[in-house]
Amino acid sequence: MLLRLLRGAFEPCERLAYRLFGGESPFHHLGALTIYLFWIVLVSGLYVFAFYETSVAGAYASVERLTQEQWYLGGVMRSLHRYASDAAVLTMGLHLIRELSRDHHRGPRWFSWLTGVPNLWMVYMLGITGYWMVWDELAQYVAVATAELLDWLPIFTDPMARNFLTEGSLGDRFFTLLAFLHLLGLPLILVGTVWLHIQRIGRPRINPPRRLALGTLLALLALSFAQPATSHAPADLTRAPRVLDLDWFYLAVYPLYDLFGAPAVWGVLWGGTLLLCALPWLPPRRRAPVAEVNPEWCTGCRRCFGDCPYGAIDMAPHPYRRGKEVSVVDPALCVSCGICEGACPSATPFRSVRELVSGIELPQYPVQVLRERARDAARRLRGPVRIVVFGCGHAADPALVARADTAAVPLVCAAMLPPSLVEYLIRREGVDGVVIAGCRAEDCEYRLGTRWVEERICGAREPHLRRNVPRDRVALCWSGADGALLRRCVEDFRARLARAADAGDGEPPQAAAAGGGRSA
Ligand code: HEM
Ligand code: SF4
Ligand code: SF4
Repeated sequence: MLLRLLRGAFEPCERLAYRLFGGESPFHHLGALTIYLFWIVLVSGLYVFAFYETSVAGAYASVERLTQEQWYLGGVMRSLHRYASDAAVLTMGLHLIRELSRDHHRGPRWFSWLTGVPNLWMVYMLGITGYWMVWDELAQYVAVATAELLDWLPIFTDPMARNFLTEGSLGDRFFTLLAFLHLLGLPLILVGTVWLHIQRIGRPRINPPRRLALGTLLALLALSFAQPATSHAPADLTRAPRVLDLDWFYLAVYPLYDLFGAPAVWGVLWGGTLLLCALPWLPPRRRAPVAEVNPEWCTGCRRCFGDCPYGAIDMAPHPYRRGKEVSVVDPALCVSCGICEGACPSATPFRSVRELVSGIELPQYPVQVLRERARDAARRLRGPVRIVVFGCGHAADPALVARADTAAVPLVCAAMLPPSLVEYLIRREGVDGVVIAGCRAEDCEYRLGTRWVEERICGAREPHLRRNVPRDRVALCWSGADGALLRRCVEDFRARLARAADAGDGEPPQAAAAGGGRSA
């Protein structure tokens, strides 16, 4: 219920972003965008560090010099460093909430969720140590409060806060240690935790699309010129910091400390972390049966192995055919998407066997059932333009467009559909057109489904739709949950098919792909 509300809150913003940017909507690339922002942070940070002095006396002065004397480059680099870090917190936060709202924290995805939590800690620790390095009044406030917070934990024998009591108690070594932590130690750990985070994901998207990347960089550059990052007054341990302009992305916890004290802050931080870690099992997801391999129909072609978005398929020696391989499913990793079913060449409906069995399929929706549903639906169609709409179970319900001349056949994922079934319906069953509808482009519930469908239909990926099927009789509609868009897409397609039939020139109509999809 709560998750559905969360999802509903995202939907209008996502719909707008999709209308503006299509498959390059930032919402579809939040993880990759976070990584990209860290690249900007890294490059700009290295530039700033080249001018940084790791000493009590030099830290503030060196940053100020860079900001004032080299405003056009050093100052811009410093601002980029700050704003890209803030943006990374924003994209990471949205990524977390979005994955949660889509129920991606449970089931076989628990690993990605759980390994995301240390990323949060690492990013915050990086940001906070970054603020210390400027050694202005804000740094002083953050450093003293952090030391007091850490002193509340039974870790250090000597209180850390003692280091910030007087000017003399703070040595240059503190800044060398800080630079080591901020520039090397924490970033290396972050690289490790991000690496772990994407380990169970097949072909993780770690780079955003080029235009999104360029747009993000330009926006950050514009902000850096319009509102350059500046320092507060230099730190002075003999008096309390005066006016503080907090960065709420990183430092929101400190006012909480001022108001409620260390136990409350640690309670919120550890309680929140524990809650995030426990979420995958609160309650655990009821899992659908996982994909099953039928070794007698597996030729070892490796297509399912290459297409599985969660790396759940491995290849092993074939039990019956010497020198051949057979696919093996790891039930712990399988999300039951059915993409492998659509990839398997033995799923072709043209096979003249009484019982159609594929090399790999979902037991709850095997290819035999899919063929029968599609065929029966096609045979019931009446009207001059007869269309079959296959709809992914995570996008708008295809039943919305069902009528006498339009049949709806549900799928788990759009890529569960073997392209040969499209050919079968058009050539064998005499259907005029087939629509494949699913999640928004580059935003497949199972990560890669929409991409695989596009590639299979246009012939760039096996199994491909054979050339003898006019491409214009197939439309891809990546409408996501937008039922109105699905309706529009099917109506446009029907109109084009009808116009072509009226023209009677034998030329196939130009079918369009709507909602970010491409023309088949
Ligand atoms: C430094 C911060 C983070 C980075 C750079 C990052 C990056 C990524 C990337 C690149 C992916 C793969 C996207 C794809 O190819 O579809 C991903 C997936 C995922 N992330 Fe993160 N992530 C971060 C933080 C988090 C956090 C804090 C959480 C939640 C606690 C989280 C939860 C997930 C989940 C559940 C997936 C799997 C999505 C799926 O299976 O479809 N991530 N992340
Ligand atoms: S159902 Fe999906 S996750 Fe499971 S093995 Fe097939 S492609 Fe992989
Ligand atoms: S796609 Fe089918 S035939 Fe090919 S390896 Fe997988 S199960 Fe075997």
